[in-house]
Amino acid sequence: MEIISIILAAGKGKRMNSSLPKPLHKVAGKSLLHWLEGGLDEALVSKRIFVLGDKSEILKKHIKNSDYVIQEPQLGTGHAVKIAGEKISNLNSIILIVYADTPFISPKTIKKIIRKIENGCKISILGFETDSPNGYGRIITNQSNQVLEIIEDRDASEEVKKVKLCNSGILAGRAKDIFDYLEQVKLSNNGEYYLTDIVSICSNNKKKIGFVLGSSEELIGVNDRIDLSNAEKIIQKKLKNTLLSKGVTLVDPSSVYVSHNANLAKDVIIEPNVFIGPNVKINSNTLIRSFSYLENCSIGKKCNIGPFARIRPETEIEDNVRIGNFVEVKKSKIKNNSKVNHLSYIGDALVGHDSNVGAGTITCNYDGTNKHKTNIGNNVFIGSNSALIAPLTIKDNAIIAAGSTITKDVNANSIAVERSTQKEVKRRDLKFKK
Ligand code: UD1
Ligand code: MG
Repeated sequence: MEIISIILAAGKGKRMNSSLPKPLHKVAGKSLLHWLEGGLDEALVSKRIFVLGDKSEILKKHIKNSDYVIQEPQLGTGHAVKIAGEKISNLNSIILIVYADTPFISPKTIKKIIRKIENGCKISILGFETDSPNGYGRIITNQSNQVLEIIEDRDASEEVKKVKLCNSGILAGRAKDIFDYLEQVKLSNNGEYYLTDIVSICSNNKKKIGFVLGSSEELIGVNDRIDLSNAEKIIQKKLKNTLLSKGVTLVDPSSVYVSHNANLAKDVIIEPNVFIGPNVKINSNTLIRSFSYLENCSIGKKCNIGPFARIRPETEIEDNVRIGNFVEVKKSKIKNNSKVNHLSYIGDALVGHDSNVGAGTITCNYDGTNKHKTNIGNNVFIGSNSALIAPLTIKDNAIIAAGSTITKDVNANSIAVERSTQKEVKRRDLKFKK
């Protein structure tokens, strides 16, 4: 049976008050759009039709391998689904309607809604219960818990507003039924065609409505920045609980930020106030100390990073490496057992194994136009406060004397000193004011 999802993303997202389309706002470093697509992928719903409208030019660039229609003007969710109908030829297919602003739905729940249709329901809806139902459409049921209708928050009486059973917005049915009911939807008081009105049409026709109860956490809708921050809180908790269960220690989980794809191995320890950006891999028994900021990098086993370290994109750190306080590493590889312990900038560099980069060492990689590479060999000792002017190669077992500005390649097994000779003059009648 063909399953097609219609993703509604045409709304103005006014309540976000943003020039960025709402589906591109991020939670745990991943856009709402990609959260939704990930869930659909896992539920094996691969065919998608996006309904775009406001800011469609920007959104189009983020939609790959999917059909889309443009809804202009945007006359409500019912109108949006009707327009997507242009792209559906097989009226027997099951359609799954999802909202781009309700992106955390689990694959398990998606499958449950679809199964209701396979088992004979005309439509199936997904609801959830919450103590803060403000803003959501309320699901009205009869005494035998059959769904009768959905009343939108803006149209709800005081009595209805007390109902805690909310509409997630996610709905499924066969294409022929949904488009048939949509023909019967009338314009609401606020000038929109509500998709949710097909529920009362279906129940008035005495047709079977399937109901699935989801958790409020997976069904949080993002309408404004407060919702976005609440979603972040919920997803962070979930991601961190998964890490904890995999054997990662988070000393103070609430102060650590992790991205959606943090790949942390067993016995990694993360101290408080650490930021783990996207695409970070950390191998076992590594300690990330407080106030460190990591993104797009991989860190080996038994390393000690921070406190106050910044590990920037395209950095690869091998095993047993120490990166100390106020050290920034960018697009560099640091091999086994090496140390950069204090106040350094290592950019576009390769540091061999068992090397020691002294305090205050800077790889001067940028000449104002181009970036250049620094190659540091194995077993190299770089004295403190050295400036390494790239492009530069320092071969194995070399020593750079502290305070040197190195502009020429250094041979293996050599010591390079570049500093003026210290002078001394005799002190005569020099007097200091007291
Ligand atoms: C909608 C539901 C409500 C549900 C809530 C869950 C309706 C009428 N109401 O309300 O019952 O509790 O979601 O979050 O469906 N969109 C379009 N075209 C339009 C209008 C909206 O594509 O003309 C898209 C929006 O981009 C958004 C989604 O549809 O992704 C929902 O629209 P929104 O305005 O956020 O509806 P809610 O008021 O949240
Ligand atoms: Mg919404």
